[in-house]
Amino acid sequence: MEKIIDEDKQGASLILDQKKGNQKKLFIESYGCQMNFSDSEIVASILSEQGYNTTQKLEDADLVLVNTCSIRDKAEQTVRKRLKYYDKVKVKNPNMKVGVLGCMAERLKTKFLEEEKIVDLVVGPDAYKDLPNLLSEVEEGRDAINVILSKEETYGDISPVRLNSNGISAFVSITRGCDNMCTFCVVPFTRGRERSRDPQSIIEEVNDLWAKGYKEITLLGQNVDSYLWYGGGLKKDFDKASELQKATAVNFAKLLELCAKAQPKMRFRFSTSNPQDMTLDVIETMAAYRNICNYIHLPVQSGSDRILKEMNRLHTREEYFELIDSIRRIIPDVAISQDMISGFPTETEEDHKDTLSLMEYVKYDFGFMFAYSERPGTLAGRKMEDDVPAEIKQRRLNEIQDLQRKHSHYRTKQHVGKIEEVLIEKSSKRSDLQWAGRNSQNTVVVFPKEHYKPGDFVNVKILDCTSATLIGEAVGYSENN
Ligand code: SAH
Ligand code: F3S
Repeated sequence: MEKIIDEDKQGASLILDQKKGNQKKLFIESYGCQMNFSDSEIVASILSEQGYNTTQKLEDADLVLVNTCSIRDKAEQTVRKRLKYYDKVKVKNPNMKVGVLGCMAERLKTKFLEEEKIVDLVVGPDAYKDLPNLLSEVEEGRDAINVILSKEETYGDISPVRLNSNGISAFVSITRGCDNMCTFCVVPFTRGRERSRDPQSIIEEVNDLWAKGYKEITLLGQNVDSYLWYGGGLKKDFDKASELQKATAVNFAKLLELCAKAQPKMRFRFSTSNPQDMTLDVIETMAAYRNICNYIHLPVQSGSDRILKEMNRLHTREEYFELIDSIRRIIPDVAISQDMISGFPTETEEDHKDTLSLMEYVKYDFGFMFAYSERPGTLAGRKMEDDVPAEIKQRRLNEIQDLQRKHSHYRTKQHVGKIEEVLIEKSSKRSDLQWAGRNSQNTVVVFPKEHYKPGDFVNVKILDCTSATLIGEAVGYSENN
């Protein structure tokens, strides 16, 4: 997985295999995290049973759905602008109905129907199975809404129709919701309590993807390390489980192992890891299976102990360093990436310097960095004043980004001279004569196409690099091919 929020893909609309006999046209687009993109595949699957085929032309759509993100104010503004644009299209296509899905739907609820006249339908992330009922309301001319959050829904029984961009890499969601309650974060409010999906249904999906020719799966969750299956139920109720349930429980390390064994030639990645929940058995499992990629997205948010505490991140800077050291000891060639927030309330220059020095210690391969955006309803939003001026947040963000750029370049250079396994995904953006894929560490590698094709695992000799891309030439198929 290259990014939490992949700017290239923001707003991408979904086009799927067309089901014969379906008369109605659905335009569905997604913003935000990969979970939203994955959820849109579930929604498209549910609606294909209701007579809808997808279209990429907004003007042709009977139903327009936008899967929304609330993580920062800017994400919400982007969706508001899209709604304005739909307004214009509706002049030409007056029968078109508009629905809002995802985190903004959950956060704003009926307010959406009041504030945005164009919206006919509001559906939260746990209510997609109710779409057929809600749509019949809408077809009868009434607005419809379901934003009920569930303690059980994992959509484990729905086989998602894939966004067929390359047919090689796919997402499989393993948990929904989050219980961590980081004080800046809206996710626990918009996506509800954390629940894990039955490993059996995960393995079935993995096997099905392999049969369809997919070669790489990213297991998705807001906090994958918290995965725990003991026959259903919330993690917090695990204490009350029977002895048998406890003895046969599947944690994240075990799930990774089940996946790696079920399809030994499929590559596995996962996202997102959380320092307070990640255990060494996960790292040991990664090291034990060559088909689990050596890449960990391990957000830290800040390098200051005081700020970490204010954020309710339940670890210290020292504990984070210990975890990093253990990871590097067990998997020496691992790549690690971060998410960082600049300008959390009360952040001083001293705290900011702690963030820079933490980065200096870890030297992350990649990073996703944000200026703090106050979210209504979160603990920080209610209890703390957003007191770091915008220009200071921005200046600190720039410093964090500059340092990350330097570290990314440093890490990229370490690959030069090595021979690395690359899974070919598509033509390089820069040249049609070159393939682009990623190595185990998630760095993009480009090399001349020769006789190779997308989906091949190829050993590539790395000859050179730019700041973020490796340049090489193939030396043959890898043993995985
Ligand atoms: N555990 C989730 C986190 C989702 S949010 C996951 O799957 O990655 C992704 C990132 O957005 C967070 O790690 C954090 O760095 C950033 N973020 C969350 N809330 C934010 C806020 N209020 N302001 C700025 N950045 C925020
Ligand atoms: Fe958000 Fe923290 Fe969960 S960042 S998604 S509350 S781990």
